[in-house]
Amino acid sequence: MSDDGAAKPKPAQPSPTALRLALLIPGGLALLAGLDAALLLLGVGAPVTVGRLADVHGMLMVYGFVGTLVALERAVALSKLWGFLAPASLGLGGLALIFVEPSWIGGVLLAFGSAMLIAVYVPLWQRNSATAVLVQAAGAVLALGGAILFASGVPIPYLLPWLAGYLILTIGGERLELARVAFAVGNAEAGALVACAGIWLAVPASLLWPTAGYRVLGGALLVFTVWLIVYDIARRTVRSTGLTRFSAVCLLAGYFWLLIAGGIWLVVGPVRDGTGYDASAHAVFLGFVMSMIFAHAPIILPAVLRRPLPYHPVMYVPAVVLHATLLLRIVVGDGADQLWAVTAGGIGNVVAVLLFVVIAIGSVLMTPRVKSKPEPSKQEATA
Ligand code: HEM
Repeated sequence: MSDDGAAKPKPAQPSPTALRLALLIPGGLALLAGLDAALLLLGVGAPVTVGRLADVHGMLMVYGFVGTLVALERAVALSKLWGFLAPASLGLGGLALIFVEPSWIGGVLLAFGSAMLIAVYVPLWQRNSATAVLVQAAGAVLALGGAILFASGVPIPYLLPWLAGYLILTIGGERLELARVAFAVGNAEAGALVACAGIWLAVPASLLWPTAGYRVLGGALLVFTVWLIVYDIARRTVRSTGLTRFSAVCLLAGYFWLLIAGGIWLVVGPVRDGTGYDASAHAVFLGFVMSMIFAHAPIILPAVLRRPLPYHPVMYVPAVVLHATLLLRIVVGDGADQLWAVTAGGIGNVVAVLLFVVIAIGSVLMTPRVKSKPEPSKQEATA
């Protein structure tokens, strides 16, 4: 294995930017396939009906799309060529889920990609032994557990806490880092660590002892979310302007949805089908995860692609559509058992995500490349 080689690139190797772009492609395809599968699950017309799309919607979205993005960003932070095995395997695993029989083959690729992600966190931890890195690595362990269970044939509703825990700890860990930088929160950080440990331990418990496990998961998630609301710089930066304010609005909206998911698990206990399942899953995956992706895209994508993705106020349009249609889907549809609202809200969710992708691609393409422009650090961009 050799270094990424920023200082002395070898001519035979792909340029780091070409490699990153190539690895984004399977992630982007997983997103499109996952959205198509979402329409199939809603029972409305979907443009593509190949393979077993509808059966793998959740795994495609969590591992093939978000997992590839997360692993790519971590590999870029590590700057070692071997680190890119994680996003490569997750991206390929996502595509294998659709087309390759039997489905455990895709599951094994996802497990390998998750194991590589854990390996990437080891040198990152040696570089910076922060609580935030530990929390993110703990999230990657849940990703590995979820992928192994999937490859072993465990049905997805039983795995949902693993998938949710993976992304909550990964993204929450990132926010923890920034809260620490901004406020030097000291002892308060111990509170976040206890809540994250609670989430982490409750995930396997939700499989073994569902009644207690789901309630502990919900309780720990509520504590962690309240911690984030109190200490995240978003509460302060929401009074700012431009990208900083946009990111803060998306972050705070995401925390609102985490409260909903935590509340459902705490009050209802195990939810593995029906309206509670749809509501808790998508409060986390659309309300929190997708909103966080909207918030971070103008910061993370330029670091990954070395192309600017300038903020534009039009980015509020997909964000507002996402949260408004999610309210329709979860509060009116799932909450009051109105199928029409689940369907209409779900279609609105797909429109919101596609709209954001179109705006992001358009924004990158229309912005001239400035070679010498430094990439903003996360602290600069969110402070
Ligand atoms: C963009 C709009 C989306 C729509 C319309 C949508 C729709 C659906 C529907 C209708 C279901 C079946 C629910 C049930 O069985 O009660 C489902 C399941 C699921 N969705 Fe989504 N979804 C969307 C986005 C996402 C995203 C972004 C993620 C993850 C990042 C995600 C993860 C999941 C998971 C893990 C499941 C459970 C899968 C299973 O039980 O097989 N969804 N989705």
